[in-house]
Amino acid sequence: MARFQYALRPAKHIERWMIVDACRRLDRCEPVRNYEYVGFGSFEFVDFELVHRELGIDRMVSIESQTSIHERCRFNLPFDSIEFIPARASACLPDLLDDVATRRLIWLDYTDPLSREVLQDVSTCLRKLVSGSMLIVSVNAHPPRKPENTCECVDGTEETTPRLNELGRQVGADRVPPDVEEDGLAKWGYADVQHRILTTAVPDALARRSARASWLQLFHLRYSDGAQMLTWGGLVVDEDDETRWKEAFSGLTQCRDEAQEPLMISVPVLTSKEAICLNRLLPAAGGLVATGISTTVGIPEADCMNYESLYQWYPPVPTPI
Ligand SMILES: C[S@@+](CC[C@H](N)C(=O)[O-])C[C@H]1O[C@@H](n2cnc3c(N)ncnc32)[C@H](O)[C@@H]1O
Repeated sequence: MARFQYALRPAKHIERWMIVDACRRLDRCEPVRNYEYVGFGSFEFVDFELVHRELGIDRMVSIESQTSIHERCRFNLPFDSIEFIPARASACLPDLLDDVATRRLIWLDYTDPLSREVLQDVSTCLRKLVSGSMLIVSVNAHPPRKPENTCECVDGTEETTPRLNELGRQVGADRVPPDVEEDGLAKWGYADVQHRILTTAVPDALARRSARASWLQLFHLRYSDGAQMLTWGGLVVDEDDETRWKEAFSGLTQCRDEAQEPLMISVPVLTSKEAICLNRLLPAAGGLVATGISTTVGIPEADCMNYESLYQWYPPVPTPI
């Protein structure tokens, strides 16, 4: 199973493991098995399998908006303790989060880009989550396709800033930071702005809470298994408990606070023999490249460095039987 999922979407596979490994640190404040996991398991429930097996969480809720796969989702539910909710998150999160006795680990793993609805879901979570709860959001961060020639608007005028216009349509023009320009939305620029918009939405949502709390960003990840994706996440914490939570997550190489650059998950394509060879040199005090392995074996230096930053979460080679 692990190998299969890895082969299909290697970066996503590694991202799931990075997040689950970091979530073990929740244990420092409350046993993580007591949390409730809320996610979009789709019909494969890969994240649910991992969360249950690795973190010991029993109470789980999977939300799914696509009516055409509801039967398949029910058929594939891997554990008896998963509640399946056939609905859009925006329709069920407000009620679901009304139970304030439970700390939650929520991963809203969207297939679509950041939108008004996603921002509304984020706001609902930040407003209602009990402190000590974690919220993770993944969105498609691929810049909208730019037409070869400028296209025509409905009113017949030329659309000279199609990406900027699309972003405005998705999130609402008032949420687009005024300094964003069309040319800045190429490559990972779209993800940059999505991250800024998410971060900017936090104070407003927190201000609407009945119990005061702060936001501690833990995840700012990017990868591309085809489409470019952005994952952002963190913890809702009591203001006077911030230091304790920061310490709980300190030293994790997959975590990024707001002052840090995002972590790019670039998975090098290696043969099993190459991966075994690199594993035997790791951890390398002076770095993998300094061992000279790149020159000896012919693996590009960039691949060695990427492997070194990810190898903890790379599937074991050879695969255990
Ligand atoms: C990327 S998949 C989830 C993958 C899964 N979390 C994993 O780790 O493999 C996203 C799923 O969420 C569903 N989805 C997307 N937007 C949603 C929304 N607003 N509410 C509920 N489900 C949604 C999609 O139909 C799809 O089945």
